[in-house]
Amino acid sequence: MASLTGALALLLVTTAMSAARHRYSYLAVSTLSLLTLTPLLALADCECGYLSTTGELLPNPHNPDAPTHQQHHALFTDLIESDFTKLVPEGEGDATISANTDWVRQAFNLSDQRARGKYGEMFAVENVVAAGREEQDQGLKLVVRGDVVEDMVPVAEIDTRRLDMYWGTFRASMKMTKERGTCAAFFWYFNDTQEIDMEFLSKDFDKSNNSYPVNLVLQSREAVLNGYDAAATSNFVKAYLPFDPTEGFHEYRIDYLPGRVYFYVDGELLGKIEGGAVPSSAGHLILQHWSNGNRLWSGGPPGRDASLVVRYVKAYFNSSREERHRDWEGRCKDPRAEGAVCRVPDVFPGNGTAGGWFFMEQGNMTNNQTVWGSEGGRVYWRRGEMGWMVLGMVVWLVLL
Ligand SMILES: *[C@@H]1O[C@H](CO)[C@@H](O)[C@H](O)[C@H]1NC(C)=O
Ligand SMILES: *[C@@H]1O[C@H](CO)[C@@H](O)[C@H](O)[C@H]1NC(C)=O
Ligand SMILES: *[C@@H]1O[C@H](CO)[C@@H](O)[C@H](O)[C@H]1NC(C)=O
Ligand SMILES: *[C@@H]1O[C@H](CO)[C@@H](O)[C@H](O)[C@H]1NC(C)=O
Ligand SMILES: *[C@@H]1O[C@H](CO)[C@@H](O)[C@H](O)[C@H]1NC(C)=O
Ligand SMILES: *[C@@H]1O[C@H](CO)[C@@H](O)[C@H](O)[C@H]1NC(C)=O
Ligand SMILES: *[C@@H]1O[C@H](CO)[C@@H](O)[C@H](O)[C@H]1NC(C)=O
Repeated sequence: MASLTGALALLLVTTAMSAARHRYSYLAVSTLSLLTLTPLLALADCECGYLSTTGELLPNPHNPDAPTHQQHHALFTDLIESDFTKLVPEGEGDATISANTDWVRQAFNLSDQRARGKYGEMFAVENVVAAGREEQDQGLKLVVRGDVVEDMVPVAEIDTRRLDMYWGTFRASMKMTKERGTCAAFFWYFNDTQEIDMEFLSKDFDKSNNSYPVNLVLQSREAVLNGYDAAATSNFVKAYLPFDPTEGFHEYRIDYLPGRVYFYVDGELLGKIEGGAVPSSAGHLILQHWSNGNRLWSGGPPGRDASLVVRYVKAYFNSSREERHRDWEGRCKDPRAEGAVCRVPDVFPGNGTAGGWFFMEQGNMTNNQTVWGSEGGRVYWRRGEMGWMVLGMVVWLVLL
């Protein structure tokens, strides 16, 4: 009997292991957990997706669950979460930005003509660096160098590897540079006319009158630089931050929904753009820190190295890929089942608690999602599953 169970366990463990190696399989692991007599309650945590607040009225910070009829929610099936404070500089461990499977550092050069500035721009991977352990601000630094090289300003950009973000809520915790003459940008991008942008010009921050503008744009940067009077259109909003963005980290957020885009800071609505300029395709996320000396926009270049520090990026989105639709249909048995839909917690003004919270760190809430740290970005099992498999092995060995 024992050896029969043992053989069965071996079979299941092997199936589970190989399923996990290729793509995660419920059947194998749930049968395995039955065998170990320890139930995996909701195998299904968040299997139907992530529910985010969205719209103009956000929940009461003191009681986020209190329903308000004006409040809207949107459900998203996919997630990418990147906690950049866990990164180490190259050569100091495994968790380096170059090894990250969700993000790609960019390398390309733009002439002054292409950059439409006084200088060109040199996007180089060495300008995207993890802060050292001794540094005050932990996170990923996007550096604009103070020294111009061959008429180009050395600048920084990092992009998500996935290009299939079709509607979503995108959040980045960032601290702006105090050096004047750079543009920090957090954006969703498909092409030069399908782009949603939050741009921060460090030369425009003014302590003397507490003026900290942010440009919310639905169009190409080129169009703005061309002298196109974007300010007069509904596709451009100049909003003001209620704090000095160079003093600390705040969560900047873009909600990209059919026909409308909302911009937030620390969960507070900054602006809303609707209408024909709202993109209608799948795209990806970009973080950029640049300067080209154009007096009308970035200004600069800065007198010395200037860093934009990014603490985290969280993206909850739907995918444009058929395969991901089928995955969702396959794993979402009943959206009303407890735990099947997970709420994305919100950051509130003065309360960044939710910013430090990640589904991926809960061990059982990112089933069938790409999770930072997984090899090649193609390993979908959750951290917890490996534990179950090891437990299954142990049980099998004991039975043997
Ligand atoms: C998921 O993990 C959390 C803590 O890591 C635990 O409290 C919760 O019970 C787990 N849920 C399931 C369904 O295993
Ligand atoms: C995302 O996809 C899910 C599943 O198809 C759907 O229920 C949800 O409404 C979609 N979200 C948006 C914002 O369209
Ligand atoms: C950009 O220009 C610099 C200086 O000429 C050069 O060293 C570098 O290889 C170029 N980068 C790319 C991606 O072509
Ligand atoms: C961007 O994509 C849209 C939709 O495919 C297309 O209509 C538009 O012409 C594209 N814009 C550019 C600049 O290529
Ligand atoms: C603050 O002062 C600067 C410099 O004089 C000016 O450009 C800016 O418009 C002012 N901001 C506000 C909100 O008045
Ligand atoms: C998980 O996702 C992968 C890749 O999208 C897919 O091939 C696989 O079938 C999914 N597995 C489940 C159980 O949903
Ligand atoms: C801050 O937000 C968290 C949830 O993210 C909540 O549990 C906590 O009570 C809030 N703190 C205050 C002071 O409102």
